[in-house]
Parts: sequence; structure tokens; C-alpha cells
Amino acid sequence: MFKKVLFFLALSMAAAFPSMADEGMWLLPTLQKLNGKVIKDLGCRLSPDEIYSINHSSLKDAIVQFGGGCTGEMISDEGLLVTNHHCGYSSIQGLSTPEHNYLEDGYWAMTRDKEIPVPGLSVTFLVNMKDITDDVASVRRQAGKKGLDAQALVDSFFVYVQKEVSAMNPDCEVEVMPFYNENVFYLMTYKTYRDIRFVGAPPASMGKFGGETDNWMWPRQTCDFSMFRVYAGADNKPASYSPDNVPYVPARSLKISLKGMKPGDYAMIMGYPGRTQRFQTASQLEEMMRQNGIAVRARTARQNVMVQGMESDPAIRLKYANKYASSANGWKKWQGEQLAFDKLGIIPREKQKEADFMAWVSKNSKREAEYGKAIAQIDKAVAADAHANEEGTLIQNSIYTIWPISPVGRFNMGFRAALRKNPSDTASAIASGKAAALALFKDYDEALERKMGKVMLRFYLDNTTEDSPLLIDGVDLRTADSDKYIDGLFDATAFRSPETLDKIKTQKDLLNDPATKFSNAVSNKLISMYANAASRSKDISEGNRILTKGLLEWQKGKASYPDANFTMRLTYGTVGGYSPKDGVEYKYYTTLDGVMEKEDSTNYEFIVPARLKELYAKGDFGQYADASDGKVHTCFLTNNDITGGNSGSPVLDAEGNLIGLAFDGNWESMSSDVCFEPNLQRCICVDIRYVLFAMEKVGGAGYLLDEMNIVK
Ligand code: ARG
Repeated sequence: MFKKVLFFLALSMAAAFPSMADEGMWLLPTLQKLNGKVIKDLGCRLSPDEIYSINHSSLKDAIVQFGGGCTGEMISDEGLLVTNHHCGYSSIQGLSTPEHNYLEDGYWAMTRDKEIPVPGLSVTFLVNMKDITDDVASVRRQAGKKGLDAQALVDSFFVYVQKEVSAMNPDCEVEVMPFYNENVFYLMTYKTYRDIRFVGAPPASMGKFGGETDNWMWPRQTCDFSMFRVYAGADNKPASYSPDNVPYVPARSLKISLKGMKPGDYAMIMGYPGRTQRFQTASQLEEMMRQNGIAVRARTARQNVMVQGMESDPAIRLKYANKYASSANGWKKWQGEQLAFDKLGIIPREKQKEADFMAWVSKNSKREAEYGKAIAQIDKAVAADAHANEEGTLIQNSIYTIWPISPVGRFNMGFRAALRKNPSDTASAIASGKAAALALFKDYDEALERKMGKVMLRFYLDNTTEDSPLLIDGVDLRTADSDKYIDGLFDATAFRSPETLDKIKTQKDLLNDPATKFSNAVSNKLISMYANAASRSKDISEGNRILTKGLLEWQKGKASYPDANFTMRLTYGTVGGYSPKDGVEYKYYTTLDGVMEKEDSTNYEFIVPARLKELYAKGDFGQYADASDGKVHTCFLTNNDITGGNSGSPVLDAEGNLIGLAFDGNWESMSSDVCFEPNLQRCICVDIRYVLFAMEKVGGAGYLLDEMNIVK
């Protein structure tokens, strides 16, 4: 009887704190203290020290930031790396031509010498992170005592420690990162490898199966992975590309489990989540949503034209594949976010939270003095900035996308960089500028850019609420014939084609080109929008710092985690489905049956490759079928707390073995960057068995298994 009462008490407590187990993008150095017991109780068999240690190799040594915006992980001791297909997408697109279309057809390097170097791609390892919050506080105290400018002293302290630690770690990059809106500071040490080669990927019809229609949604059957290899100098240290470089030997690589997963199984994800807004005011969130709305409308106009062009010609599809995917990804996310905000009442909930916080603040005069004004200070600055920010978002998503602006920018960057090295040699600086601009023409179609340019200039002129003119050569574009202006611009500029680019022979040619003038006018407009925002942005960051400190004090005793900021985090939870709406239950996994059900040979997003159909028909699944039903499971769900930047992150079981890759969030919880929704929020993962099936059975690259460490 007594036991029964305890059991019910435990159950009701669990219901009262449903989110506690799984919300959170936790910092690695505080894992032991904040999460050690919880992850053990949830089933994790690794100690926090085996997950993250700075004294010996640990799981964290296998996880990298991939290409600056995604996550990847080492899956062999010979530098083999796996990440999402959508993370490798721009690299694969960049290497593709209509003759060698790796994006459409997929690719597997059957020998090491067929691995293709990717210029500009890098992979970064976290070496160490050290809490320096107390040092910062003591610098502030000293500044106070001596009557010095505290911020200036803190800034020079940062420069000093970065220099000191860099000197001790010559192959590393060292930086100070603020957390909790500048209440906590860590010194981060990273090591970056820049000789990264493309090993292989499935065709887009698998790697991007479902396309934009299925993006951000469940049920899903996307085989979202690609593989690369990290190369190093003979000493295993970072080295720029050389045919003599050798595969990098990581301090740790992940073991791969083919056992599959069941609901309730422990699952954790390590990776580099980008940005969340879990410590912002309702006014900031409302403003963010207004800006997203503007961006959505502008992108709709541009994407509609782009898609027409892509559907008209496979060569144009290849050129614009990456531009379209990255525009459409944010565009769909923001629409889902708005729907979720409305449905879940996010703003009213945030307002209620602020009211509760202020009630707590007002109970005590010390708290009142410290935190009482923060929200009002933020609200005031946000309101004062609203017009400039909304106009800035409009410009960035409309006229700033018009063609010659990016090659002009690239030309100038290349030109100036060369001139800095050799100030007297203008001729080679012009050549460098040209080379930099030229690279962009690979993914350019003049007719399509003209069309998009016209639509975007019109969109801007129809939507701007600015009174000041957009002046070019004394003509106000607001009163000009905008279509005619765009045609005139393309007809006259040297940035019209690779051939016309040769017209630029001197710096004067560059300055007098109509594209330079257009680009300057748009940039100046953008700069003027943000020109007066500096002091208000100081009010906002100070307000957020104080508010965050207050919120933490209010919730004292509860484990907390800072907003995502592209630093490595861990999120833990379990495998499981969800109920998206009344009467509907979603399973926690999908299978190849779903691929065949969705097949539509008339829709580019739902084409199924012949080889996959053949294997499916024969039931030729190798070692990759699930033991329970003999099917190839394609994707699965966990309740891990992730966001953009986590893409490609390893999903690890209780032993730390790789069972999948995180690649998306779900439609019903698109507000997740602001609030974690325990009942709705799921992380969409590709099953590692589907990845290896695609590699070995579809791609014929089974030889790569030899270097992996597979546990059955
Ligand atoms: N929604 C995914 C993310 O932001 C990206 C998926 C890319 N796929 C696509 N169809 N655009 O991580």
C-alpha cells in the first residue's frame, strides 16, 4: 500500500514537471554537476567524464563543427566524417557540373585518390573550454576601484588572454564567448582543418527525398547524409590542401550500432546548435516575428521566379539548387514558426512569464533596484528600432539580392585583399578581383537574374515605408520605370557575363560601372537604416544581460542552460513518437514502404531511384533490416532539444554508439527556438542503418565499412 502511494506521488510529480528531463542544450563542462544523475537515471551508461573531458580523449573529440554552420562526426580512425546531405549540399553542388552532376546522381569515391578536395570547406574540433566568468568579474571590480572604464578594461583583458592561450597552442584558434547574454564567459580553444575532401553522397532523390514539401515535417523518409574525409599534414596537424596530406587520425571516432532503437530508449545528441531566443522579452519576439513576415513575403516573390527558371532547364536547376534550398529553408521555418506562435499562444505565455517575474521582482527592494527596469528598457529600444530593422530586413531580402551586388562585393574583396598585400600592383589586384567575381558566374543565369531583379526592385518599391529616395546618378528609383532600370543595368554593366567582366581594366572602370553605383546606393541605404541603432543596441544588450541574470535568480535551484550560440552542447532524452493533433498518433519511425508510397515520377521532389526500387522489390537489405519487422527503417524521432546548426549531429545510444544523424525539427513545434514543447517537440533523425544501406547497397561503396567500427 505504502509503495503504491509513493508510486502515484512519483507519477504526479513527473506530470507536474514533464519537460524537465529532456529540455536543454547543456554546456559540456557542467554536465557532471547539472545532469550527471538525470542522464544516469534516464539510462545513459557513460559517465559525464567519458562524454566530455579535457584531460583524456572523450566522445567530444569525435564531434566537429562542419563548414561553420553544421555538425559532423568522425566515424573512423582515418578521418572519415559523416554529416547531413543538406550540410554537404553547397559543397556537392559547387563540385557538380551538368557533365558530372554529383548532386543529382550521387557520388562515391571508390579509392582515396578519387576523393575530391572542397575549396573553402573546413572542419573545427573543440580542444578545450574554460570558464573565465570570475576573472571577468574581478577585472570589473578593479576597474571600479580605480575609476576606469570597466568595459574597456574587460575588452583588453579578453585580448590579453586570447593572446596568452594562443601562444601556448600555436595550431589553435582561441576566442572568448559570452553565454547567458554576457553573464558568463568561456575561453574557447579550437583546431581547424582545411583540407576536406568529398567522399560520397546518395543522389538528391534520396538525400533530399521529399524536398521542400517534406522539409520541417514528419513523417519523413529523407536519407539526409553525406561523407567527407579530413586530411592533415604528416604530423596530423592542420595543413592547407596538398596532395601529400594524409587522412587525419582523430583522438576519438564513434562506434556505429546496427541494433536499432525502441520507444523509451535513451538517446543523446552532441553538436553545435546555432541560435535560440529563450531569454528574450515578448516585445523582442514580436519584433522578430514582424521581420520574419517581411522576409517571407519578399522570399516568396523571389522564389516563385527562381522555381520557374529551375523547372524550365536542368542546367538552371543545378545552378540554383543551393540558393533555392537555403532561401526556402528559412522561408518555410518562419511560416511554421508564426503558425506555432499563434496556435500555442507563445506571446501571451511570454507576457505572463514577464508579469510573474515582475511580481517576484517587486517583492524585494534590492531586486527592484537591480531588475526592475530591464524589460521596460528593452521594450523602449525595440520600439525605437522597429522601423529601421523592418526596413533593413526588407532591403536585405529584396534589393540586396539583385544580381550584380554579390559579384561587385566579391570583386572588391578580392581587389582590396590583393592591394593590401601589394599596394603598388593595381593590375594584379584587378586580376584578383576578377577571379573572385568570376567564381560566382558558375551559378548564374542572366535571363533568370534579370527577371528576379525586376520582381525584387518592384517588391522593394511597393513595400518600403521610407521617405528618403533611392538615388542612383541623381535619379530616384522610386519615380523611374523600375523594369527599364534593371534592363539598363544588365545591358551596361561589366558584371553581366564572364566575358564582359574583362571590360574592367582599371580601378576607375570598377568605380564607374553602373553595378558599383547600384551596389553602393543599396549598401548606403542599408547602412543608414542601422546607423542610429548603436546606442539602442547597447540598451538592448544591457537590458538582456540584466533580465537574464534576474530570470536565473528567479529560477534558482533549477538546472539551467544558456541560449544556443554555435558552441558545442549536449541534449539528452529518449526515442518516441507524438500526437500532432486530436485523434492522431505518429509512430517513432518510418520505413522504405513510405518512400514507395510517396513516389511520384512527375514530381521532382518525390522521384525514387531505380536502384532503390530494385533492392526494395528483392528485399535485398543486407545487414540493415530491423530485426522486428525485416524492413529498412529510414528515419526516427527523439525528444532531444535541437536547433539549426545541430544538423548532422550524431544521435548516440546509452553506450555512446552512433544510431542516427539529427537533421530536422517538426512542424507542430516550430516555435521551439523560443520555448521547448515537451509534448510536441521532436527531433527528426535519419537511421544510421539507412545511411549504411544507401552507401553499401545503393551506392556500392561497401569498402568504407572496413574502416568503420560497427557493433551489431
Ligand atoms: N530544415 C532543415 C534544417 O534547417 C534543413 C533541411 C534541408 N532540406 C530542405 N529540403 N531544404 O536543419
